[in-house]
Amino acid sequence: MCGIFAYLGPRQASTVLINGLRRLEYRGYDSTGIAVKDGTIQLHKKVGKVGDLETILPTQVPGHIGIAHTRWATHGIVNDSNAHPHQSVNGKVVIVHNGIIENTRQLRTSLTVQGVELQSDTDSEALAHIIERELSVDNNPEKAVRRTLHLARGTWGLCVLFLEHDVIVCARNGSPLIIGQGDDEMFVSSDPHALAPYTHRVVFLEDGEIATLTSTSMKLSTLKGKDFNPSITVLEEDWGESELGEYPHFMLKEIYEQPDALRHCISGRLDRVQGNGRLGGLELEPRDLGKVPHVRLLGCGTAYNAAEIGQIMIEKLARIPAVAHISSEFRHNDPVINPNALHFAVTQSGETADTLSAVKEIHLKGGSVFGVVNVVGSSIARECGKGVYIHSGPEQAVASTKAFSNMVAALSVFALQIGRSRSTSKERGKQLINGLQEIPHLIEEYLENQGPILEAVEMIKDAKCVLFLGRGISAPVAKEGALKLMEIAYIPCLAYPAGEMKHGPIALLEEGSPVIFIAPNDHVKMKTISAIHECKARGARVILIHEKGDDIANEADISIPIPPVHSLLSPLLTVIPMQLIAYHTALALGCNVDRPRNLAKSVTVE
Ligand code: M6R
Repeated sequence: MCGIFAYLGPRQASTVLINGLRRLEYRGYDSTGIAVKDGTIQLHKKVGKVGDLETILPTQVPGHIGIAHTRWATHGIVNDSNAHPHQSVNGKVVIVHNGIIENTRQLRTSLTVQGVELQSDTDSEALAHIIERELSVDNNPEKAVRRTLHLARGTWGLCVLFLEHDVIVCARNGSPLIIGQGDDEMFVSSDPHALAPYTHRVVFLEDGEIATLTSTSMKLSTLKGKDFNPSITVLEEDWGESELGEYPHFMLKEIYEQPDALRHCISGRLDRVQGNGRLGGLELEPRDLGKVPHVRLLGCGTAYNAAEIGQIMIEKLARIPAVAHISSEFRHNDPVINPNALHFAVTQSGETADTLSAVKEIHLKGGSVFGVVNVVGSSIARECGKGVYIHSGPEQAVASTKAFSNMVAALSVFALQIGRSRSTSKERGKQLINGLQEIPHLIEEYLENQGPILEAVEMIKDAKCVLFLGRGISAPVAKEGALKLMEIAYIPCLAYPAGEMKHGPIALLEEGSPVIFIAPNDHVKMKTISAIHECKARGARVILIHEKGDDIANEADISIPIPPVHSLLSPLLTVIPMQLIAYHTALALGCNVDRPRNLAKSVTVE
């Protein structure tokens, strides 16, 4: 989704900006641009990738102050004029903006009445014109931005460059912005990952804050005009360079990284002697956990699917109600919040706007929320204050793989911890720990012998629709498999709990319809077999993910065995063949595996 990078300092700004944009690329975007000041302001923008922008840049873009942007269209189609930066009518102000200005129609109309000819269809451009107008009042960049933002309604992460001032003013409201402080140089980014090559000393702007930056100074104030001192955070976790290495795509690399990522996630969090989980970041004692009335988990997309698995594990081990919610629905349903309940916000990026809003809704109503987050220092991690980092490392492919596994693993450790404080015996706890510690090795074993994935790809790649079915803990895994295939191979997919198939989706089945079943050797397997028979009786062809050595393989047209696994942890194994099926199908169809169309890695608008 949209990304911002800005620079002030001794280096050539254009080089730093292009490097910054490259590190934002993984988030997904459709156009890009930079503006650099050196007496005049040079502005270059273009539909396409950062590489495309480079082709139109002159060999020299002199200047040491600049702003840059990757756009993911919200207001206005994907074209060059809607790309950022946007310049004011007299060229004195140039802005890049993330977020959505809700009263854009009103602002644009009033500018048109004043004779301003708008150059784009965006909500952002209006801000540039209004800042320029306000600048003419007192020639004070910070005050001009502040007065403009008082007129705007909506969300923003904003950087403003001025023709006549050697400063960048930035502001945040609902869209992340982080200032990086170097030695006599200053950086701004919407993503801490992009700052890592330059500095680890950062200031996270909060909603309603404005920063006025020179290369050597940082002045912070609120939207109301109150100055305050910056609080510098030193980012400890460095994602490092995430290069492809021997892999053709990040998605494949990240699928193969799952065993090690899982080892990181569970390391130091399991107490083998007591058969217990130990998530120190929650700061919850057994007596606190014993009193919890219920648990709610929030997430979007893959994170929601992981949350649904968490829900099942928590109910099974702790015998208290747990429920997973889709974040984007949560606050709009005016949920009743019990301050004694536990809430978890599950998110890879930690920037998903829908999940952040859900967290704020709970806070507003007196509840507290724990983050289950990958990106350290992200907005949701900071808004929650406490929680669990899932330690997947950088996930660059838009289709989430290793973050899903680590969300499930982190939630299983929590389920164990709350379970042990209530109804789970030490013996059962130890079995789960053994199971969890075996998982990385079992995934490695499976990856060495993946089964007939390419045969499965042949069966589904030209299908009108693929149905994914699983029961119990495999029902959310079916959803995750469908989401993966749909988002990167663009094949319409439906996922259902297998028992629900006969209540509707069965109508879709015809001779040759592909159906993917997930049927580990658990207590609902026999029920799943009935659903397989119902599908086959209607001519469907069955791809079956099952445990090695299980007779259920005889039910399959294509059988994909996984190593036998603890029944509560089966999602960590059954999901892997589905990730591979999605990956290879996308490749077979010539799709862009890592950057699927229309999608963004981090969805920062509601
Ligand atoms: O960063 P988050 O985990 O909050 O992202 C949530 C979803 O946008 C994300 O899982 C999305 O569904 C992925 N592209 C799935 O592969």
